[in-house]
Amino acid sequence: MNKNIAVIRGDGIGPEIMEEALKVLNKVAQKFGHEFTYTEVYGGGAALEKYGHPMPQVSVDQCLASDSVLLAAVGDPKFNDVAPELRCEKGLLKIRSEMGLYANVRPAKMIPQLADACPLRKDIADKGIDFVVVRELIGGIYFGKRKTEVVNGEKVASDEMKYSEHEIERIGRVAFDMARKRRKKVTSVDKANVLDSSRLWREVMHRVAAEYPDVEYDDALVDSTAMQIVRDPSRFDVMVTENLFGDILSDEASMITGSIGLIPSASLGEGTRGLYEPIHGSAPDIAGKNIANPIGQILSAAMMLRYSFDMPAEAQAIEDAVGAALDAGWRTVDIMCDGMKQATCSQMGDIIASYI
Ligand code: IPM
Ligand code: MG
Repeated sequence: MNKNIAVIRGDGIGPEIMEEALKVLNKVAQKFGHEFTYTEVYGGGAALEKYGHPMPQVSVDQCLASDSVLLAAVGDPKFNDVAPELRCEKGLLKIRSEMGLYANVRPAKMIPQLADACPLRKDIADKGIDFVVVRELIGGIYFGKRKTEVVNGEKVASDEMKYSEHEIERIGRVAFDMARKRRKKVTSVDKANVLDSSRLWREVMHRVAAEYPDVEYDDALVDSTAMQIVRDPSRFDVMVTENLFGDILSDEASMITGSIGLIPSASLGEGTRGLYEPIHGSAPDIAGKNIANPIGQILSAAMMLRYSFDMPAEAQAIEDAVGAALDAGWRTVDIMCDGMKQATCSQMGDIIASYI
């Protein structure tokens, strides 16, 4: 198959980790007889520098013309003081929204070879950590009306959290469909004891749940869920929640696996085109040093092959190659421990590619 991949290297460690993912993708193409072509797309600080906008229309058009988008990371402290609408983060929100990617899928799975890095008590970790956060990505407070005004001589700021039934229903379906392919359990997370938007969320989720009688369903409040994630993560299979709660809970979920540098994510909409990125940020403090962990990026490429290109064997080949590299004792510095062999970012890419 021929696939045109839009590649956004972005900022910080972005360019380095992307290089390794492309190395691995090229090996997959060679092994399985595919042709991947890459369109380099500017995003984040890099785009701000070149075009004066973190996600210019030309970049949006290139992404919309691709078969799928692979993104590394955006964000550069150099641009912290630009106007709010020009912040790198805004670029990311824009591309998600322009591509209609309403479902963000973030797996929280403990990799057995890295069990020692799990910060939870051993008896908790031993019960297993393998769940997925399905986060609504283009609605809620991130996209609601916001304003800062002066009232009675002081500044007052507000952000609106708004959801409509169809937005809730479509993300609900993503979660239930996913649960059917897993352990058949959905937990919907909200704050229905306080928020109207959450009460509607819960009402619609119940309606969707009724269409999936084979899937076990429960509701949970976001505060209690934050607690359960560290108390007994084994109780979760698919967790579905709104944008801001999902942002927060997915960071917590990734941390308990002990390996934030290894976790990929997929953002999906109606068609097969998606956007795939590691969940970590651009880590400007270690940029250019060739020490970043490229595995989250490489596994994001695997997710792209699975979800957008329907290439499960190719995706599996990447995941197995990552497992083989870890089994062989290779570690980047962030996950380095006694008795292991330290690899640079580019060495890790070479090693994983060699196992394809
Ligand atoms: C994420 C990030 C983004 C978000 C930021 C960079 C806008 O935290 O992908 O989780 O909040 O969605
Ligand atoms: Mg986040």
